[in-house]
Amino acid sequence: MLCLLVIAGCSSEDDSPSGPIVGGPTDPVDGGGDGSGDNDDPLTYNAAQDLKEIVDFPVGNIVSANRLGSSSASNETFREVLLEEFNSITAENDMKMANMFTGPDTYDFSDGDAIVDYAIENGLRVHGHTLVWHSSIPGWLNNFSGTDEEFETQVENYIKATVSHFAEATVVVDGEEVPVVKGWDVVNEAFDGAGYRNSIFRERIGSDYVEKAFQWAREADPDVKLFYNDYNVAGEVSKRNAIINMINGFLDNDVPIDGIGMQMHLNYNWPTDDLPTAIQDVADTGLLVHISELDVKANPNDDIEELTEERALAQEEQFQKAGYYYTELVPEEQQYGLTIWGFRDQDSWLYENGSDWPLLYNNEFETKLAHRGLAAGLSGESAD
Ligand code: G3I
Repeated sequence: MLCLLVIAGCSSEDDSPSGPIVGGPTDPVDGGGDGSGDNDDPLTYNAAQDLKEIVDFPVGNIVSANRLGSSSASNETFREVLLEEFNSITAENDMKMANMFTGPDTYDFSDGDAIVDYAIENGLRVHGHTLVWHSSIPGWLNNFSGTDEEFETQVENYIKATVSHFAEATVVVDGEEVPVVKGWDVVNEAFDGAGYRNSIFRERIGSDYVEKAFQWAREADPDVKLFYNDYNVAGEVSKRNAIINMINGFLDNDVPIDGIGMQMHLNYNWPTDDLPTAIQDVADTGLLVHISELDVKANPNDDIEELTEERALAQEEQFQKAGYYYTELVPEEQQYGLTIWGFRDQDSWLYENGSDWPLLYNNEFETKLAHRGLAAGLSGESAD
């Protein structure tokens, strides 16, 4: 892995290719490039601004080592859009335990290293996702026949080895050496509703496995930002309260934690009032706040066959609200960033053979109304 490279800044405009790739479809009715945003297609628009240029906090999206290294035309376009619009990346899958923890005390960091190298070459920040998650456990660990103590040692060693390894990647920004992997989702989705999820980690390490995971990560790196990450933090009030309660307990007991990741897998019509309330509640902890996996289902009830203009407008509004409330309610010093969970609709984990369209770009990488909504929200335009 490349460890030290001098660059001017992590989000330098000069690092990005220029050109209208995110500018939506051609042949605009109303001037396209003049920022009016109109075109012939009711579902797309001509974007006037790249997302990362609108706000001062990082705006991210997900990648894989495969797509970053592939020379197919669609992956070339993917990288152009990535570098134009975003300055932070999260590995969708490559930096999860199931992908990197190949056997007892054996690790394969090669895909993560490729992602970090790409970030260094292109002035991007990397967010680490995720160290401990019940849905990403390598088969051998799931079937581990050693004692519980030996199981715990494996998890401790994995966390320490992984965090230490990725802490080695640094860049020099304005004369200061800074890490490329700025933070880690240390534990993902430990809650199931308002109660703790009964995972193998809880069964074999004990009910304090979450605290232990944070302590091990901190022992491996005194500086990297440590996040607890979960879904429905907005939308499920009792779950949110339980998470905040756990985190306040961490703060009272000196368990190292720096931030909360709100995944934000939303529906076009859900949540409503709880969206700003949730962002405010999480910001009130005083910790960093990361909108870590934003997407908005347009067809959660399977009641449409294709994206309609009406539904696209509702989806746009929900993206606008997410961007707006994050920008307006989270104090600047707590704004770790906002990360979108995918590029084209067909890339989404929710696409399911074309039955939903949850992202900012259609399958031709054209900017959807959803993108217009997010850009407006980030610009401070309220949808209410
Ligand atoms: O790469 C293999 C491929 O070789 C194989 O042929 C194929 C057969 O199913 O599977 C491929 O792996 C899949 C992988 O995505 C890459 O496409 C896995 O089965 C599939 O489980 C995996 O899904 C990912 C999921 O997390 C589970 O890790 C999704 O891409 C990813 O978007 C999703 O992301 C999660 C976040 O990490 C946590 N929050 C929820 C979010 C959505 O579920």
